[in-house]
Amino acid sequence: MAVVAVVGMQWGDEGKGKVVDLLTEGADIVARYQGGNNAGHTVVIEGVKYVLHTIPSGILRKDVLSVIGHGVVVDPAALLEEMRLLRAEGHKIDDNLRISAKAHVIMPYHRLLDRATEALRAERKIGTTARGIGPAYADKMGRSGIRVIDLLHEPTLRTKVATNLAMKGSFLAEHCQGSEGSALDAVAVTAQYLKFGEELRPFITDVDALLQRAWREGRNLLLEGAQGTLLDIDHGTYPYVTSSSAAAGGSCIGLGLAPSRLDQVVGVVKAYTTRVGEGPFPTELGGSLGATLRQRGDEFGATTGRPRRCGWLDIVGLRHAQWINAARWLAITKLDVLDTFSDIGICTAYEYEGERITSLPLGEHALSACAPVLEWMPGWRTSTTGTTEWRKLPEKAQRYVEHIAELLEADVLLVSTGPQRQETILTHQLW
Ligand code: GDP
Ligand code: IMO
Ligand code: MG
Repeated sequence: MAVVAVVGMQWGDEGKGKVVDLLTEGADIVARYQGGNNAGHTVVIEGVKYVLHTIPSGILRKDVLSVIGHGVVVDPAALLEEMRLLRAEGHKIDDNLRISAKAHVIMPYHRLLDRATEALRAERKIGTTARGIGPAYADKMGRSGIRVIDLLHEPTLRTKVATNLAMKGSFLAEHCQGSEGSALDAVAVTAQYLKFGEELRPFITDVDALLQRAWREGRNLLLEGAQGTLLDIDHGTYPYVTSSSAAAGGSCIGLGLAPSRLDQVVGVVKAYTTRVGEGPFPTELGGSLGATLRQRGDEFGATTGRPRRCGWLDIVGLRHAQWINAARWLAITKLDVLDTFSDIGICTAYEYEGERITSLPLGEHALSACAPVLEWMPGWRTSTTGTTEWRKLPEKAQRYVEHIAELLEADVLLVSTGPQRQETILTHQLW
């Protein structure tokens, strides 16, 4: 048995969905530990593309139990819609999906608050997904949050909705006029969320107890992170981050597992870097190189459709992520996207105020003043799309992958050469 966390090592969208789906083959349970429907995890199976937002990316494997941990924030309407889409594709999910009773709920006023606070931030906006993530986690930490279990108990829900709206009322009235009036009506919100509770009731359970039992029975547990380490609330490029603990440590908190139970971490590393939303990005490429990466990598947000900003691999950020996560294994994704480049840049340090630095600077404005120091590697200029064997990779591509692994002091578990499940070079067995 083993407990393995799969973690994004950059600013999200590293290809975690594909990696989780693949590794779930050997798992008994796959559990999401944080984030919400700000995530968009893509899995492509036999040409059919699925984008999972709240449901774990293991859901497409019939014999695996998918669980949503209490570290996740759940938007019930979005979750029910995701369930409906999976059913419409012929997936039976009634027996293999469970939701933690302790997970916090994203309420309609959270979405309004998300948009209103972004508008007030003006040019300092974060570029959130507008899903209400930040305000929902703020209520959790502020101890006014509504949990999934509250959706099953009318008096609790009614009181909490009323209190929350009273606390936020004047701000909402001033800044959210004219939008979704029913979101501010305590009676209407309570009635709607009780209904969601009834629809979700068969799936709601004590996930901590479920995982404890599974661990004692020696099951293989795969823990799925959303976002990435550089978007982590503590370890990321604050304030341009999300509001949860995306790094490996978050898997213990978000699922009720002791740190000593975590056996291994798989760090998912895209072969270059992308970022959606605002915030500093030292290796960002404007012009035609950035456009080529975006076009070849189809770099458009899986949740919001926004074009992703693209740039060279940033080892400074990755080294930081590796310190935080101590990934034993790396899953290097989207290698094929680099197939056409004659030279490939790797940023190993930054120039900052006339000095060369090799770790992320601390100040909020410092990272945007950093210029990348690039090392160049020769491109392989031949197609690697769909390659499934290491020895069939061009030597220069092998060197590139090996160099990343050396710099991060980890071993390569797999290299992904296309979006489909089978477009993968598996160099080790995880389970
Ligand atoms: P996640 O949020 O980390 O799960 O990643 P996303 O699903 O948001 O973005 C990754 C995108 O790259 C998706 O469209 C995937 O289908 C696609 N993808 C994943 N691995 C590969 C790969 O090795 N090559 C290519 N070309 N696309 C990939
Ligand atoms: P997956 O799991 C990439 C970004 C947003 C914004 C910031 C805060 O698919 O990798 P939020 O709505 O969370 O308050 O937005 O975080 N962001 C992501 N970027 N991938 C994601 O998820 C993201 N989830 C949030 O674009 O910059
Ligand atoms: Mg994504």
